[in-house]
Amino acid sequence: AQNAKESLYIVSQYASAFFVKQLWETDEGRGIGLSYFKERGFREDILKKFEVGYSPDVWDAMTQSALKEGHKLEFLEQTGLSIKNDNGKIYDRFRGRVMFPIHNFTGRIIGFGGRTLKTDKNVPKYVNSPESEIYHKSNVLYGLFHAKKAIRDLDNCYLAEGYADVLSVHQAGIENVVASSGTSLTVEQIKLIGRFTQNVTILFDGDAAGIKASLRGLDMILEEGLNVKIVSFPDGHDPDSYMHHVGAGAFKTYIEDNRKDFILYKANVLLKEAGTDPIKRAGIIRDIVESIAKIPDPIKASVFIRESSSLLQIEESILLSELNKMRSAKS
Ligand code: CTP
Ligand code: MN
Ligand code: MN
Ligand code: MN
Ligand code: MN
Repeated sequence: AQNAKESLYIVSQYASAFFVKQLWETDEGRGIGLSYFKERGFREDILKKFEVGYSPDVWDAMTQSALKEGHKLEFLEQTGLSIKNDNGKIYDRFRGRVMFPIHNFTGRIIGFGGRTLKTDKNVPKYVNSPESEIYHKSNVLYGLFHAKKAIRDLDNCYLAEGYADVLSVHQAGIENVVASSGTSLTVEQIKLIGRFTQNVTILFDGDAAGIKASLRGLDMILEEGLNVKIVSFPDGHDPDSYMHHVGAGAFKTYIEDNRKDFILYKANVLLKEAGTDPIKRAGIIRDIVESIAKIPDPIKASVFIRESSSLLQIEESILLSELNKMRSAKS
């Protein structure tokens, strides 16, 4: 019910304030958490804006503090912030991690991502809040609350993969950025972007997984009738690492100069994969037309057919007949 949900918002807000206080006002938080953010090159104003925090590396510090303040265990458990083990002992989900609170687009905290500070491969890099009455991860875009005004004003939304990417792109002065974080891009997330702009620019990681996700993402975005461009990053960089690598000014220029239309992007990726194999190269044409076939607006689709024709050096009529075949197969 409404009141139960309200209680979950309230404990989430309490936990966030607790983590923020730990980061800035305790020796452990400053010595471990804040210095970690500083080493990664984050500015204090960005850390404060996104309300990042630190969860102490003990069993139940947050839970005990919340209970002492009169918060109910029931609600702490329902958000996943507190967990009861088989022996009935309560512990904190997030321990010894830097904390990224996740806001819904009206600005209320609905969940958290916690990043480990350990380099041990056996420790999961991120622990996230579980699904709850207030947190449905497939409907959430990290950073949307802080980005929505800029997305509307600039009529474009940069879409990254992770928490750190959003902070770093902001730090570079680009505020219209969100992340799909912790889930592969969903239709709900694309529809959410569509409430603010029809234009998406994908900024996924330059690793194999990121490239694969960007190909899947661009098809989904086209299918929702939005326009999509892609910026790829060199040498396995993600937006965060690249921003800190080249600096804010050069990063901004890079993003502006390397925004590729999806056809060119897809052609580049697939041509690299195909090498000199002629059969594979022929498959690329079909692959690209397949993406164009997802565009609901036939006039837009025909513009992209013309563009592919000149880019791939293929007769427009051949591409069109391919497109029509796919369209009729679909309906
Ligand atoms: N993610 C997750 N759980 C994991 C790995 C990733 O939820 N075990 C989500 C996080 O939201 C993360 C995003 O997927 O931010 C992208 O993952 P990845 O590129 O691996 O992490 P980065 O965001 O680059 O993290 P960092 O820069 O801190 O290493
Ligand atoms: Mn807030
Ligand atoms: Mn990655
Ligand atoms: Mn990454
Ligand atoms: Mn990263």
